[in-house]
Amino acid sequence: MSKATAVANPNIAFIKYWGKTDQALNLPANPSVSMNLAALTTVTTVEFRPGLRVDTVAIDDRPAAGQPLERVVEHLDRVRSLAGITARASVASRSDFPAGTGLASSSSAFAALSLAATRAAGLDLEEAALSRLSRLGSGSACRSVPAGFSLWEGDSDEESFARQVAPSGHWDLVDVIALVAYRHKAVSSHDGHALAATSPLHEARLAAVPGWLETVLEGIRDRNLAAMGPIIEADALAMHGVMMTSVPSLLYWMPGTVAVLQAVRMWRKEGLEVWFTLDAGPNVHCLCGPADAEEVRDRLGNLEGVRDVLVSGAGDGVRPVDYHLF
Ligand code: DP6
Repeated sequence: MSKATAVANPNIAFIKYWGKTDQALNLPANPSVSMNLAALTTVTTVEFRPGLRVDTVAIDDRPAAGQPLERVVEHLDRVRSLAGITARASVASRSDFPAGTGLASSSSAFAALSLAATRAAGLDLEEAALSRLSRLGSGSACRSVPAGFSLWEGDSDEESFARQVAPSGHWDLVDVIALVAYRHKAVSSHDGHALAATSPLHEARLAAVPGWLETVLEGIRDRNLAAMGPIIEADALAMHGVMMTSVPSLLYWMPGTVAVLQAVRMWRKEGLEVWFTLDAGPNVHCLCGPADAEEVRDRLGNLEGVRDVLVSGAGDGVRPVDYHLF
């Protein structure tokens, strides 16, 4: 086979990946835990063609250039070397959500690219190997490979990949996402990781992670949002504390971001069980049970500064599909 298409969902981390011990291999400074988002998808088609002189890449129907193109070509090189082929490829990738706004588009992008490219190159990787390969493209992508809820840990290149901790059907947890900006962020998470170690708060966060991780894993096991909610908020704020105090400082928040954080805490006081987290961007992910999702969506939609609201439950892992984008 020389052409294949795959679909992946991005994931939202409950314990974040921020900072690396190896920039080139995307080895994380700490383990992380996440949930795939069923309602958001990236579809990617890859075709290796002997006649092509260079790899051509279209992202959301536009030709890719600069760093995004380089990262895809580097990833195709990894797949070519695994498969022992030299042919260049045509790649098309389309996401149904805005890229670069903290919705972790690189997670679904590199998970889908890894599966589509390996299949197109005639390889059939096991889940662990596919997760490991996806990590080399973008760290968070390794967590979009297993279905449902994933734990990414391991210190070496061979051992660092994500494993499922619970399937998507285990828990009907809902992520209600408040979009407060559509603009492409100034500093990508990919570039931001390198700054983590310049923050005096980085080591303090890393020291707290093992305890937090245990609570979050138990919370997923017991489907107990009330137990893990405070930790999810604490780690999101700790990560943004590291970002804000790194050199140079990264400030992803917008006025709408703060409005949502304040509102979520007020709603909780009123008895609504909802907890927030954020990635490297201004949008806010609000986690709640299915019975509260509509209420949370309506309330978010009425807040000043919130431009749109997306709602998603837990999603599947990366998977092949039998249609193509070209
Ligand atoms: C803030 O996976 O985008 O979303 O490995 O350099 O591609 P690279 O970084 P990336 O980092 C995502 C960071 C985060 C937190 C998280 O998803 O855990």
